[in-house]
Amino acid sequence: MPAVRADKLYKIFGRRPAKAVELLADGRHRDEIRHLNVTAAVIDVSFEVEPGEIFVVMGLSGSGKSTLIRMLNGLLPPTAGTVQIDGTDITAMPKSGLRKLRSEKISMVFQHFALFPHRTVLDNAAYGLEVRGVAKEERHAKAREALALVGLEGWEAKVPGQLSGGMQQRVGLARALAADTDIILMDEAFSALDPLIRRDMQSQLLELQARLGKTIIFITHDLNEAMRLGDRICVLRDGRVAQIGTAEEILNDPANDYVAQFVEDVDRTRVLTASSVMEAPIPVIDPDKGPRAALRTMRDNQTVSAFVVRRNRQLVGAVREDVIGAAVRDNVKELDSLIDTGLARVHPDTPVADLFAQAAESPYPLAVVDDSDRFVGVIPRVTLLAALAPTTGSDDGGAAESAAPEGAPPAAPPPDGPPAAEGAPGTADAPEAAADAATHSAADTATDTDTAAEGSR
Ligand SMILES: Nc1ncnc2c1ncn2[C@@H]1O[C@H](COP(=O)(O)OP(=O)(O)OP(=O)(O)O)[C@@H](O)[C@H]1O
Ligand SMILES: [Mg+2]
Repeated sequence: MPAVRADKLYKIFGRRPAKAVELLADGRHRDEIRHLNVTAAVIDVSFEVEPGEIFVVMGLSGSGKSTLIRMLNGLLPPTAGTVQIDGTDITAMPKSGLRKLRSEKISMVFQHFALFPHRTVLDNAAYGLEVRGVAKEERHAKAREALALVGLEGWEAKVPGQLSGGMQQRVGLARALAADTDIILMDEAFSALDPLIRRDMQSQLLELQARLGKTIIFITHDLNEAMRLGDRICVLRDGRVAQIGTAEEILNDPANDYVAQFVEDVDRTRVLTASSVMEAPIPVIDPDKGPRAALRTMRDNQTVSAFVVRRNRQLVGAVREDVIGAAVRDNVKELDSLIDTGLARVHPDTPVADLFAQAAESPYPLAVVDDSDRFVGVIPRVTLLAALAPTTGSDDGGAAESAAPEGAPPAAPPPDGPPAAEGAPGTADAPEAAADAATHSAADTATDTDTAAEGSR
């Protein structure tokens, strides 16, 4: 059962939403129904998020990301369509049920942290549990644990203003972790951080995720962030889904010109991994065979080297044709001493960007070896270079056609407001209501309290 399921979701702001849904369901663009005096924020969006998945929703400013995520936790009622959490339709839930859902099943992390400025880091991290009525000792213990998970051990007694922006966001994350909900929604959670800290946070999130296996819905307008974090990515355009797929699917097979333009500038070497460019290892040599057989195998395949692999697919090493040839002439009978065992091995998930140095140093193709130590593929240097060439907009005049599709996104994403400086004072000014919104205790009015906190931009 999916952890989160959105089915034909619509959110229309303004009067006459029903008429708007009817026209939009008919395929109209949201600009075509402006005369109804409505804003169609989310249009006919359907997807399923599996437990343990990181599902990224990405799109330009105004594409409907925040509106969508607020419908997923019941902060905003949909105009049409349903949201299911663990198989339960929350669209029909009474407010009390939604509040319980948000306190027990879904936490949220915001862009501008939404911390209480006068509370300690510990109390901020424990806030979700406090709302749930958990006794002080227990919630502090859980908050300490969560703070340790995000690397903030020793900072418990400080207040947010004493922390850098990156650290404050880790408090926000710790709050979600302390609440120990299965689902975490993150709306532009890293967008206010400067690039290096942002990368750091992404890595930390991936590490935590590998350990904790939460279901994460992560909103961003940064494609590289989306590609790095997302198991799957949902590209929104003007409220509608343009494409849902893995980073590689979106990169290699964009659904339309819009998505193709979006991904044009992506650093492919960061998205593609060893497993996506590796090839079948041919030929391979059985370590129990002698040098003569090895030599014949290489000559038959017209190759100057080959990998030596046991029947259980464990990689022993590699041999070179010249070395084996000489050994055969010297009448060497055993292969063992001729095998080069110190060759470079890479994990299937290694980004292509990290393979170049190793590939340059190795006389053999790179050997890809998985977690159970099985030899799963090889990456010859030429393959690595070929992986760099984009597959879209490069052939048969298609480039001219797709040069400027209607409504194409600008080459660069729009600026994301003023970046919060380290320990930005603006953060400390955030009204306490914003912190409430973070755990939703006082946010049932569905006024966008986190946006209110951002309203100071
Ligand atoms: N409460 C509201 N009332 C009226 N219109 C709204 C409301 N909230 C959002 N909108 C409109 O809905 C559309 C989608 O907004 P939303 O905030 O979901 O976009 P977004 O993708 O999150 O953008 P950003 O990247 O800027 O955060 C926008 O046109 C916005 O103006
Ligand atoms: Mg938004």
